[in-house]
Amino acid sequence: MKINLKHTEAGKFEETRFEKIHNVIFQNSDIASIAVANEIADLIKQKQEQSKSCVLGLATGSSPIKVYEELVRLHTEEGLSFNNVITFNLDEYYPMEKENTQSYWYFMHDHLFNHIDILPENINIPSGTVAADEIHQFCIDYELKIKDVGGLDFQLLGIGRTGHIGFNEPGSHLNSGTRNITLDHITRVDAGPAFLGIDHVPRVAITMGISTIRKAKRIVLMAWGINKASVIKETIEGEISSEVPATYLQLHDNVTFVLDEGASEDLTRIKTPWLVKNCIWSEDLTSKAVVWLSVLLKKSVLKLTDKDYNNNGMASLLVEQGSAYNLNIIMFNKLQHTITGWPGGKPNADDSNRPERNEPSKKRVIIFSPHPDDDVISMGGTLDRLVEQGHEVHIAYQTSGNIAVSDEEALKFAEVSNTLNGGDAKSKSIINDLNAKKEYSIDTLEVRKLKGLIRRKESIAATRYLSLPDENVHFLDMPFYETGKVKKNKLGELDISIMKNIISKIKPHQIYAAGDLADPHGTHKVALDSLFIALKALKGEKYMDDCWLWLYRGAWHEWDTHEIEMAVPMSPDQVMKKRQAIFYHQSQKDGVMFQGDDSREFWMRAEDRNKETAKKYNDLGLSDYAALEAFKRYHF
Ligand code: F6R
Repeated sequence: MKINLKHTEAGKFEETRFEKIHNVIFQNSDIASIAVANEIADLIKQKQEQSKSCVLGLATGSSPIKVYEELVRLHTEEGLSFNNVITFNLDEYYPMEKENTQSYWYFMHDHLFNHIDILPENINIPSGTVAADEIHQFCIDYELKIKDVGGLDFQLLGIGRTGHIGFNEPGSHLNSGTRNITLDHITRVDAGPAFLGIDHVPRVAITMGISTIRKAKRIVLMAWGINKASVIKETIEGEISSEVPATYLQLHDNVTFVLDEGASEDLTRIKTPWLVKNCIWSEDLTSKAVVWLSVLLKKSVLKLTDKDYNNNGMASLLVEQGSAYNLNIIMFNKLQHTITGWPGGKPNADDSNRPERNEPSKKRVIIFSPHPDDDVISMGGTLDRLVEQGHEVHIAYQTSGNIAVSDEEALKFAEVSNTLNGGDAKSKSIINDLNAKKEYSIDTLEVRKLKGLIRRKESIAATRYLSLPDENVHFLDMPFYETGKVKKNKLGELDISIMKNIISKIKPHQIYAAGDLADPHGTHKVALDSLFIALKALKGEKYMDDCWLWLYRGAWHEWDTHEIEMAVPMSPDQVMKKRQAIFYHQSQKDGVMFQGDDSREFWMRAEDRNKETAKKYNDLGLSDYAALEAFKRYHF
């Protein structure tokens, strides 16, 4: 079914009264991207019928990738022609060679232009190689060229966490035209993984201006994932300000923001719907609202009063529940029942109010870890308890994690091996490869193998420390990851069969997996997708009837308190043990390549996060633990 994205007034309905920009929320970015591609395709066809050219403003980055994929599919499978299309890209890093795999020129050809019938002379991308003293004229010419072809019919946008559109960073003027600009630190941090470290990210770019973008007849901005949620709220609900340049889009009368559930999470109508409309109070929404109220008023759940509920948009909930007293007790018990020191179930105990079943008392468990360290970072304490309580625990490291090992670290190991073996040919060749490596070039197979081995041996050291037998530690080395680049391959049959094999071999009662979709370079999401596909394929197997899936979150986010279904407490000693286990992953310490925008090391993030969860529970009126690890059950 085709979904029409077109404009309806923002703020027109009670529910959207805080909103100043029209937006449509989709369940996920795949469906949303298809809707965007369809609108573009319809416009191209409409222009073809009128024998006119169709002028598109295009964006790069992770947001439009699936839109381009769908446009390529429409071309190859449904005959959509691009021969009347003229494109203008928003921006390019400066300086930047076209051939550099990080250039936006390369990106656009790789994702779109090489696969469609657009005329090469109709492609316009700001140049990353124009001489410095010619940039000014180049920018004027770029503007004129857009004007000459009749202006942009459609502008596709992503949004940066700084609120930039194009590379119009905070401070950009409403009337700005195409120009060069210094990139914001946050933008460079976000681009860091693609450049294998922030130090390699250019400091300058050439970008279309706010005024250039605003002149487009139609604008669609896409945002995916919770990392974008706060800037999306600011842009849609905040005041117009040069501090968040995307807010200038509030002045455009034909703009739609296309969001997935993650990116829309902070909008008032999603985050606190009881403040904007009458709600149907599902169990989930009730939990969300009560936790929110308790945090807002800094009162424990059992101290909330009728007045507190009535004054904060929850009068109808109170009517349904009878009184604050009843509601508070229900919620308190619900939260209390999520806490357990027995993540594998407590043998011989009444399990009616426990997160896990008590039978079988010894469970077979698989912990899927996307990279070789997520297991200990995200659930080191729970892992320790599972082993201690006698369950058969297996760890499956899904990818080799090789690209996250620095060249310096690899060289150190190659030199040890070289010295130990009296100058063997293999070590020498690895040392030569590393010394000859150019910026942006991909590691040789041998170097990648060494980097993967370093991570393997670190993982084994950590799992031994947690008393796991080596034979229960599985390195899956899933092929989708093995590109040597940040950009990974699509999941293939081999990836899925590797996942199916390990599950059908172990026949687990419990699976733990990373439900973290905010991983800056997406491997966690692909790893989770591979698990979902494998589980779907195995659904008919008898042992699957008795298999529960628990999702933990990776290093970047924790579940919201109301979402947590199992909270496993850690004593101060267990916190130290978890820290030690993380320390074994030495190649990931001290300024790692995939740091994200958080300068704390992984063990610090993990500790802060687990302490914070414990504090949140305590503030709600529950027991005071040193730390808590949190899980959400996924029903498949
Ligand atoms: C890219 C561009 C930028 C990106 C923005 C979001 O041409 O102009 O504004 O759209 O940085 O990037 P992603 O989509 O990677 O989150």
